[in-house]
Amino acid sequence: MDTKIYTADDLVAAAKDIVDGKLVSFPTETVYGLGADATNEDAVKQVYAAKGRPSDNPLIVHVDGPEMVERYAQPLSDEAKKLINTFWPGPLTIIFNLKDNVLSKTVTGGLDTAAFRNPNNDVTLSLIKEAGVPIVGPSANTSGKPSPTLAKHVYHDLKGKIAGILDDGECQYGVESTVLDMSTDQPAILRPGAISAEQIEEIINKPVLDERVHLSDSQIPKAPGMKYKHYAPSAQVYIVDSTSDFKEAAKWASQQDHTVGVMATDTVLNDIDWPDNVETFSLGDTVLSASHALFAGLRHFDNEEEVKSILTQGFANQGIGEAYMNRLNKSAGQKHFNK
Ligand code: TXA
Ligand code: MG
Repeated sequence: MDTKIYTADDLVAAAKDIVDGKLVSFPTETVYGLGADATNEDAVKQVYAAKGRPSDNPLIVHVDGPEMVERYAQPLSDEAKKLINTFWPGPLTIIFNLKDNVLSKTVTGGLDTAAFRNPNNDVTLSLIKEAGVPIVGPSANTSGKPSPTLAKHVYHDLKGKIAGILDDGECQYGVESTVLDMSTDQPAILRPGAISAEQIEEIINKPVLDERVHLSDSQIPKAPGMKYKHYAPSAQVYIVDSTSDFKEAAKWASQQDHTVGVMATDTVLNDIDWPDNVETFSLGDTVLSASHALFAGLRHFDNEEEVKSILTQGFANQGIGEAYMNRLNKSAGQKHFNK
């Protein structure tokens, strides 16, 4: 199959593909999604096949606004409405209880709940409106690989497997949305993202559980997707916890017989005289720019076979740094330089 590159001018054609049961990748403010009509079970099944995604890992349902959620979800609580008013459109995915038999088990992974998201991207909001149906959308990468933040990343992973890619340039945040479970009385964050627990607590005036704190390795995470190895390039990734460790990291790199990738801020990159077998990738200068560049950097080195290890700068685990460290820990399999 030929994978077409669509732009905002081709919305009608892209929406027709969705309605016809084909797959179209769409841009969001976080990462690119792999879109299909959420009400067409055959189309949704193709999403799992194209990504190589385990079938028990449910999909996010992208909507053009709260009215579309109400077609499928049980009546929304006042707290849920407040969150929607404050954060939508934006990088907060919310899990609600469903009405009976409104979405297939292929979408929900067999759960009685579904995750809804109203992305803050005008092209994609128009696509959903034009198609007239909610659009499922996992990140548009091969399962296990870093999420795509550019149309060319999607093309690399999925060319020939999907009908089209709606190109709207670079994604703003670069890490996926916060996933918040509102299906019980106890709101819980299942995946950290750009919207923090504190921001949510401020709106609903009650504590939000950090699900990960309560999970040991043997327990099954409530967001099935969080149990898989993720965001991993073929090279081994190491987290460099403190900028002062990079001097020693440079020495270590010079002793390796392969090319070492280094992902760090400009300050760190400029501060050190790197050995010849090091290739650098800039994370900009803030934790925000680093979050934006993380997946692109991992993909950059994944395309270079001679790079066998990647040293990546760690950041404080707060604000967007929490989402950054969550993704980096997964791609590194928790491995730290020097520990
Ligand atoms: O930013 C994002 O959220 C991107 C863009 C494309 O919107 N999408 C995304 O989707 O990251 P995906 O499929 O890669 O991650 C969805 C996560 C998975 O960890 C999945 O297990 C969880 O949300 N999830 C989905 N539905 C759920 C449900 N009903 N209950 C619990 N977890 C759910
Ligand atoms: Mg994903």
